[in-house]
Amino acid sequence: MYEQVSHALLNQILEEVKPEILRSDLRRFYTRIGANFYVIHSLFSQLYGEREDFLDQMVKLVEVMALRYIERTEELEKIDIERENNHHWFLSQEWVAMALYADGYAGDLKGIRERCSYLQDLGVNILHIMPMMKGPQGASDGGYAVSDFRAIDSRAGSLEDLQELATHLRERGILLTLDVVVNHTSDQHAWAIEAKQGNSKYQDYYYTFPDRNIPDMFEETMPEIFPETSPGNFVYDEEMGRWVMSVFNAYQWDLNYSNPAVFIEMIDTILFWANQGADIIRLDAVAFLWKKIGTVCQNEREAHLILQLMKDCCQVVAPGILFIAEAIVAPVEIIKYFGEDAVIAKECEIAYNATFMALLWDTVATKNSKLLVNGINNLPTKLDGATWLNYVRCHDDIGLGFDDVDIIAAGFEPHAHRNFLLNYFTGNYDNSIARGLPFGRNSKTGDARISGSLASLVGLEVAIQQNDEKLIDDSIKLILLLHGMILSFGGIPMLYYGDEIGTLNDESYKLDENKALDTRWIHRPKIDWDKAERRHLHGSIEERIFNGLKKLIAIRKNIPAFADFNNRELLEVKDQHLFVFLRTNPESMGDRVLVVANFDAKPRYLRLAEIGKRGYHEHTQLRDYISGESPSMFKHYLVLPPYHFYWLVER
Ligand code: GLC
Repeated sequence: MYEQVSHALLNQILEEVKPEILRSDLRRFYTRIGANFYVIHSLFSQLYGEREDFLDQMVKLVEVMALRYIERTEELEKIDIERENNHHWFLSQEWVAMALYADGYAGDLKGIRERCSYLQDLGVNILHIMPMMKGPQGASDGGYAVSDFRAIDSRAGSLEDLQELATHLRERGILLTLDVVVNHTSDQHAWAIEAKQGNSKYQDYYYTFPDRNIPDMFEETMPEIFPETSPGNFVYDEEMGRWVMSVFNAYQWDLNYSNPAVFIEMIDTILFWANQGADIIRLDAVAFLWKKIGTVCQNEREAHLILQLMKDCCQVVAPGILFIAEAIVAPVEIIKYFGEDAVIAKECEIAYNATFMALLWDTVATKNSKLLVNGINNLPTKLDGATWLNYVRCHDDIGLGFDDVDIIAAGFEPHAHRNFLLNYFTGNYDNSIARGLPFGRNSKTGDARISGSLASLVGLEVAIQQNDEKLIDDSIKLILLLHGMILSFGGIPMLYYGDEIGTLNDESYKLDENKALDTRWIHRPKIDWDKAERRHLHGSIEERIFNGLKKLIAIRKNIPAFADFNNRELLEVKDQHLFVFLRTNPESMGDRVLVVANFDAKPRYLRLAEIGKRGYHEHTQLRDYISGESPSMFKHYLVLPPYHFYWLVER
């Protein structure tokens, strides 16, 4: 939009910027900043317009963008332009992601490079390397406490190693996802150290207070994120003699985004990593970016303005970059991180589908899809130009944050139901063979979440201990079933390293004082490469899971109806053990896939006439994409063996 006031200002700013900027070839930068400046200016003024130094800060912001633009290599700019011309590229069914820790997967960044073919063999083409920026030597929340936003932790390697890896991945057609921990820094960060030494400029980078008055007001409404290890939301720093806000662990200090200098530093950080070769930036803990007394300090309107501004600035400098929102919040809130009232994503193109993940686990425990169906039906429709990150497990816990209303509609009492899930997955219910651990127990609210590796949560650990072939087989089927759902639901499926070979809980964290109190470490394994080798051994557990997944991934990539164009319809059927949905290729309506999954330990059936409204009938001839054969039928019933699913096409 052309708007005179902001454009006059832009001209004035461009006259003021540093001479080295003006000497460069900035044609593309000018075009993009011209197109985006009205929005950038209005967002920046909504957030910081009342400040006396507003104009100086605006000049700084434009300078940072220009400097990062100049630094962007020709190769990366070429990719930007390709993606601008094909802006729906990431909605394709061809993408499959995996998240891993550099040290746990392969020792360090160089090691990952050597282990790329393993990922490619499986079919993974998006790699999320968990944060490995410089952090404290001791506890660092798995890399989410960063001490230097521009350096790699020496244990993982160096910046050169990362650049080399990025180039190597690009040559192999694998996208790189990196984290930018936008909400907080470690208390060892240079800004925090300055703040501790009394530098008020840097104290203003955080929320610091001389006494408990304001912290106490905040605490009235703020929930606790890590109630066991880090109760409350403030810590007293002896050296600084002040209280500082630390929502997560005590050593993670929340950044103060009401200070524009913080925003500028962090957009600079995002652009820095974009220029190191990241294709996708995962923005950590975005729901927490804005703090307001009297609220829970999550999902505030200003947090969305900050993300919109980050997106707009990034589009000027590196438009090929995608953002992932890590916002593990209620479904109605998650969806807003794509941006409201828009067609293309105004904030983040991708968001963690924590709702689907948690609902899948509910279905595993209850063997009943009622809550899953309710929850998905109540998920607001997302924008066309945005997509989900669908996952079964990740490095974090499983939160039971489904809507109480949905739980009640499914016939359960919310508190009792959450308790059941917790007991079930920690092996304390009837004959449950799940072996998870509670995480984040809050004695005040009674809440808790669940840790545990996928394989241990579905019972593989107990099945192996008991040497029970039937249980082993069931657990493998469940692992494949859950992945079958994330591979066909719509969105980018994200696997978690180790799950592809059935990695069990890893108890070794209990011996490390920096990890022992955080049960999430039980599912952050060191890959046992001898075990991984067993994937070549016909009939081994590793082979059955790895090859099963590999096959599903390869098939997914060839099914255009699995691309994400809001082309999914949930079909409600009588048998609540089944989960049924239809995916239709919008470019060819006859091209559709019926996904039917049985979450029960017993065989079930589906009468095709039940979904007659969608044109299925007793004579419909079906073929299963996975087996390549007709599904098993008995008369007019589709037969589903225990934990089995089909991807059915009409022939
Ligand atoms: C995100 C990360 C989690 C971390 C938290 C604080 O939720 O996924 O692992 O503990 O942010 O940084």
